[in-house]
Amino acid sequence: MRRRVFSMAAVSSMECVKSVKGVILDMCGVLYDSGEGGGHPIHGSVQAVKRLMDSGLIVRFCTNETQNTREKFVQKLQRMGFDINVSHVFSPAPALIHILRERGLKPHLLVHDDLLPEFDAVDGSSANCVVIGDAAENFSYHNLNEAFRVLIGLEKPLLFSLGRGRYYKETDGLKLDVGVFMKALEYACDIEAEVVGKPAPGFFQSVLSDMKLQPHEVVMIGDDLVNDVGGAQFCGMKGVQVRTGKFRPSDDNHPHVKADACADNLAAAVDAILTQRSVNN
Ligand SMILES: *[C@@H]1O[C@H](CO)[C@@H](O)[C@H](O)[C@H]1NC(C)=O
Ligand SMILES: *[C@@H]1O[C@H](CO)[C@@H](O)[C@H](O)[C@H]1NC(C)=O
Ligand SMILES: *[C@@H]1O[C@H](CO)[C@@H](O)[C@H](O)[C@H]1NC(C)=O
Ligand SMILES: [Mg+2]
Repeated sequence: MRRRVFSMAAVSSMECVKSVKGVILDMCGVLYDSGEGGGHPIHGSVQAVKRLMDSGLIVRFCTNETQNTREKFVQKLQRMGFDINVSHVFSPAPALIHILRERGLKPHLLVHDDLLPEFDAVDGSSANCVVIGDAAENFSYHNLNEAFRVLIGLEKPLLFSLGRGRYYKETDGLKLDVGVFMKALEYACDIEAEVVGKPAPGFFQSVLSDMKLQPHEVVMIGDDLVNDVGGAQFCGMKGVQVRTGKFRPSDDNHPHVKADACADNLAAAVDAILTQRSVNN
């Protein structure tokens, strides 16, 4: 039998995923690379996702995408060849809507226009909190000031942020991310925002509860050592890092986060997990 294994550490720790019943996949940098025309699939990932789903493992997807609805985002991946069901994709906006419902909150929204449909069913009249996402061009002085006025007018200002990134890269250069504008509102109102999305434990827990699995039964595969791997490990899951996307060799010497295993790419990680499974079954 051909053994395609990555490193000694990977082999030994993959042995401890023998009881694994589910896999959570990060999307950008694992399934595809973003770029011109929306991006392209990473070599072998389309097939790897299919094999994982055919194996009987419970598979969910987890992204921090907040510029688009899940439907649009999933359509983009389907065009790349991925067979993905929208209901299996977890992104910050639906997780936040769940929180708003649970706590009976009505949001004032400062988000990208393309994300607004996610909030169609949410009552935004007489807002008692503010939600900020990556609004890009819609981060105007006017819109930020409106959000500020709503916040400062509340007895107890409550701000939710869809992620807390500083900046990200697009084909035409670096862009300020939502965290920068979140900080501005925090500063103005002397408050601290509640961040929804990776690596917030509540975000991962909402995925686990949908999978109906315990954390130790699930492995998270991501390219982001801190947010994917570290975030999952904090919740009691195993974390596997792939050497694609934003992976950097210096990740291997990170002072706080150590992946349970590493793989060259998703295809190699799936090979290892399925091999482990067949050994144990
Ligand atoms: C997507 O998943 C949901 C819930 O698991 C299921 O009801 C639905 O039929 C699925 N849709 C497709 C196209 O597979
Ligand atoms: C958001 O930006 C777009 C493009 O600049 C603009 O057409 C739209 O009116 C803006 N929406 C809001 C709510 O500011
Ligand atoms: C989302 O993920 C992308 C790609 O992994 C990253 O560049 C960006 O900073 C992240 N954004 C947030 C808000 O976490
Ligand atoms: Mg990623």
